[in-house]
Amino acid sequence: MNWPSAVYQQRVRDGVLKHDEAQERVVLLFDQLCKELNIYQPAVHTSNSGLFGSLKSLWQKPVPSPKGIYLVGSVGRGKSMLMDLFYEQTSVQHKLRTHFHVFMQETYKKFHVLKQQSPKGGDPIPDLAKELAQKAWLLCFDEFQVNDIADAVLLGRLFENLFTLGVVVVATSNVKLSQLFQNRPGADAFKPFIKVLQQNLVEVELNAAQDYRLGRAGDEQRWLIPCNDENTAKLDHIFLRESHGKPIKEETLTVMGRSFVVTKAAGDVARFSFEQLCDVVLGVGDYLALAQRFKVLIIDNIPMFNPENVNAIERFTMLIDVLYEQHTKLYVSAAADCEHIYRKEDRRAFFERTISRLNEMQSQSWGNS
Ligand SMILES: Nc1ncnc2c1ncn2[C@@H]1O[C@H](COP(=O)(O)OP(=O)(O)OP(=O)(O)O)[C@@H](O)[C@H]1O
Ligand SMILES: [Mg+2]
Repeated sequence: MNWPSAVYQQRVRDGVLKHDEAQERVVLLFDQLCKELNIYQPAVHTSNSGLFGSLKSLWQKPVPSPKGIYLVGSVGRGKSMLMDLFYEQTSVQHKLRTHFHVFMQETYKKFHVLKQQSPKGGDPIPDLAKELAQKAWLLCFDEFQVNDIADAVLLGRLFENLFTLGVVVVATSNVKLSQLFQNRPGADAFKPFIKVLQQNLVEVELNAAQDYRLGRAGDEQRWLIPCNDENTAKLDHIFLRESHGKPIKEETLTVMGRSFVVTKAAGDVARFSFEQLCDVVLGVGDYLALAQRFKVLIIDNIPMFNPENVNAIERFTMLIDVLYEQHTKLYVSAAADCEHIYRKEDRRAFFERTISRLNEMQSQSWGNS
């Protein structure tokens, strides 16, 4: 195992990363966490390690759980990059790194399966937590966020169980712990969970000097302005090129037992209008299925965002989060560039992340691997 700081410094020397003092400070905290994890055994595993393990646990004083890290900061500062660096270097074998949207999807799926299996009225959360903790007791979440009351309730109980089992959590987020799920109906009920998180994670702010996503625009435009015939024709051409001329047909994806119809699919490319994708009742599961099936996505006619239509805007944000995570190549025609599609005077804070991501996704190398 190498210390995260050693790998970070090497990447700076190799010119892969720019030296950044704020990142350097955070990477030292990850070194410290690696050290603590090296000598730590969580409750969930000591109780499962056979006779020798049980005897050992009798004469050894249990080491208290190390506190995880909640890395918060504005967009493009290197939070995910630093967490990934830590994740690669830690000696922990039972580990999981996941995007928070994906984790929630899978957790709901397992929750429903366990609920069906358990006798009437049984509570599946303790089993769910145990199953998860046995697979991985170091959980690294990218983009921790709490979007609705159902997530808030499930998360609160699940995490309490996970921490009791000795699970260590690391997370990145754009939202401070104290601000998670605030100013929403039900926010007060969520406060005890914030406390639990504060007890088990150290909140660290990453105030890196710059948004490292900016300034990488490539040659071919992937965000075409405005929505007119000329740009539709350009997207037709891109569709043909990216799908290597394969026939365009309808394709049905199955998402948690439901059908999600992609009306225009060819090879690894799917094409939708903004309306079809963001102005109908689709959710993160649909977007995930889309991004897992297709490497390239084309969206026609992204209009100026109407601040009244919060659902469409939130769906678009969710879609971009998923596409970013899956490294999907994105081509669009739009009424304005991504900075101006949602007028600054109307827009809510979460959209800054979307803009930052869209900027990075427009670079020439994005999605080519
Ligand atoms: N010191 C650095 N030098 C060069 N590139 C960097 C540096 N730090 C981060 N980057 C790059 O900048 C991009 C954005 O970093 P990253 O995704 O980690 O940001 P983030 O803080 O997680 O942003 P978000 O809040 O939007 O998730 C990545 O491609 C990353 O590799
Ligand atoms: Mg990130």
